[in-house]
Amino acid sequence: MVNKDDLVRYYKSYYGEREVSWKDALGEDLNWALSFDYLKESDTTKHVHRLHPYKGKFIPQLVEYFLDDHTDEFKREAFFRRGDIVLDPFCGSGTTLVQAKELGIHAIGVDISAFNTLISNVKVSSVHLADLHFHVLEITKALKKFVYDSQHLRFETALTEYLNEYNTKYFPSPEFKIQARNKEINEQEYGEQHEHIVAARYNQLVAEFGITIRQTNQERFLGKWYLQPVREEIDFVFEQIKAVENVHIKKILTVMLSRTIRSCRATTHADLATLVEPVAAPYYCAKHGKICKPLFSIVSWWERYSKDTIQRFSDFAKLSTDTMQVCLNGNSETIDIVSLLEKRDPEFANLAKQQKVRGIFSSPPYVGLIDYHEQHAYAYDLFGFERKDDQEIGSMAKKQSKKAQQDYVQGISNVLNNTKRFLADNYDIFLVANDKNNLYPDIAANAGMTIANQYKRPVLNRTEKDKGAYSETIFHLKGR
Ligand SMILES: C[S@@+](CC[C@H](N)C(=O)[O-])C[C@H]1O[C@@H](n2cnc3c(N)ncnc32)[C@H](O)[C@@H]1O
Repeated sequence: MVNKDDLVRYYKSYYGEREVSWKDALGEDLNWALSFDYLKESDTTKHVHRLHPYKGKFIPQLVEYFLDDHTDEFKREAFFRRGDIVLDPFCGSGTTLVQAKELGIHAIGVDISAFNTLISNVKVSSVHLADLHFHVLEITKALKKFVYDSQHLRFETALTEYLNEYNTKYFPSPEFKIQARNKEINEQEYGEQHEHIVAARYNQLVAEFGITIRQTNQERFLGKWYLQPVREEIDFVFEQIKAVENVHIKKILTVMLSRTIRSCRATTHADLATLVEPVAAPYYCAKHGKICKPLFSIVSWWERYSKDTIQRFSDFAKLSTDTMQVCLNGNSETIDIVSLLEKRDPEFANLAKQQKVRGIFSSPPYVGLIDYHEQHAYAYDLFGFERKDDQEIGSMAKKQSKKAQQDYVQGISNVLNNTKRFLADNYDIFLVANDKNNLYPDIAANAGMTIANQYKRPVLNRTEKDKGAYSETIFHLKGR
């Protein structure tokens, strides 16, 4: 846990050598110790936390701070102990479940999104690494044979070789970027001009190797955002995964395939986060200052992510405790946690009935900010999970209007009222929120709870400087 001196030293290095006192470092009411900004990216994405991208995660160290049994001048008592059960009714990608498994705490998650539920359960599944390794090798071998038998690989190799030569000649690094930055070259014109020249050779190669680039049916996400050669490989791997008998391994492989295909969408490097238009030919990439190309094969990402996944499971296995964690797919406003658990894991259901859930640690969605289903549209389309977009609380489609805020208050209050029947007396609930509209006092009142404390944490977006810092509040709610 961070100590005062480290924090002050850290802030001096961040803000320069001006006088930084402990009070400065903490701000008036912000708890700077909870910014966790001193951590490296590899700490906040450690082991299984980075098994699959997910927009809207909280950082594991924040969960750990509230779940572990340390105390400090802000957290004056420990709220959870080994052997307790914690609930996360907005489980997302399973951060609470994973940290609970590290800390010897049982955990139940709930999420409305079937795909998020899958990611969470995969992260906490006990996996036999040798078995996983075996299946990964088998599928990779079959995929490579499939690709080798097709012309994709030879086409992509020829195109890559051509582009490497072309870029070295016309977009030398770093000279080209420097010239563009100093406006000695009209970057846009130059880029477009070379895009045209490359297109001619590209079309020749497509014809030479007899490659079909776009899919015939582009109505759905998979048809629109994947080039034909990539789509064939995706379908091939999916068929291999379906044939795997071990359900745990099958689920892990499914998440691995999903992570792979997310990286293989036919888009430019600049538009990876917000898809604009599918890209089916080489293009000038301002990000890399050269001609880049969309992907025609999934092999390299599949291999990279399969090795990474095995490594991450192996790292997590060293830290895991022998406790139970499960994520249930459902609507937290109405779900009957114990009866669902009875069907899924009777031993865990018995424990939940006997000792009850000690408390909640969760980050509910914000109002109208993130579309939790659409961000994984590729996975819903490929795996055929049922979408329940209309049951998302704070859904992006409803935006942030007054009505959307009222619905949000109702939704979160419903979740608290529904889930408190599973909680032990004297429960503690921690909700991480960016409550700029001051909705949580009403939510607490509707749920018959009081706000016992508020921990304000600064969120410093150092990589996206223009977005600046904002603060989040961790509301501590208790029964009246
Ligand atoms: C902010 S995210 C949680 C992220 C999580 N803390 C993590 O680290 O991955 C909120 C989650 O609430 C889920 N959600 C929204 N409405 C829900 C509802 N009615 N019942 C259950 N889950 C819901 C969304 O699908 C989303 O995954």
